[in-house]
Amino acid sequence: MSMDGSGQRNPTTGNRETNYKDLIYVSRTEHFNAAHKLYNSAWSKEKNLEVFGPCANENWHGHNFELIVTVKGNPRPDTGFVIDLKKLSRLIRDKVIEKVDHKNLNVDVDFMTGKMASTENLAIEIWRILEPRIREMEGGARLHRVKLYETPRNFVEYFGD
Ligand code: NI
Repeated sequence: MSMDGSGQRNPTTGNRETNYKDLIYVSRTEHFNAAHKLYNSAWSKEKNLEVFGPCANENWHGHNFELIVTVKGNPRPDTGFVIDLKKLSRLIRDKVIEKVDHKNLNVDVDFMTGKMASTENLAIEIWRILEPRIREMEGGARLHRVKLYETPRNFVEYFGD
C-alpha cells in the first residue's frame, strides 16, 4: 500500500492504490442548454401529459442543465491536487457538453438514441462516457458522482451502481 496515496501502481496487482485516510472529493460544474421531449408512443396523449406534464410537449422544450462531476482521490504530493481541474473541465466539455449543448436530446445526441430523454438516463450515459477517461488521467482519481440538475429544484445523482 502506498503511503502518500498519489496513485502509484501496486507492484503485484498493477492497480492504482487509493489511500482512504486522505480521500477527498473534488467537483467541477459545467452548464448546457438542451431541448427534449418525454413521450411514450405506446400511451395516449392524455396519459403522456399526465405522466410527463410539460415535458411531453409535442414541439419540444428546453432546460438549463447544470452538470456537476465529482471525482475522488488523494492529494498528490507534487501538486496537492487530486486532479487537474483544467483537464477535467476540458474532458467534460469535449466529450459531453459539445455533444449536448444547444442540441435536441431526442434526435441530435448519439448516446441517447433509443432511450427516453430523461435526466436519469442522461446522467447514466454521462457517467459511461467520463468514467473510463477519468480513470486514464494521471493521479489515480476516480469518478465518484454525476449530478445533473434539470431545473434548480429537480436533479438526479448517479454513482455508477
Ligand atoms: Ni423537460
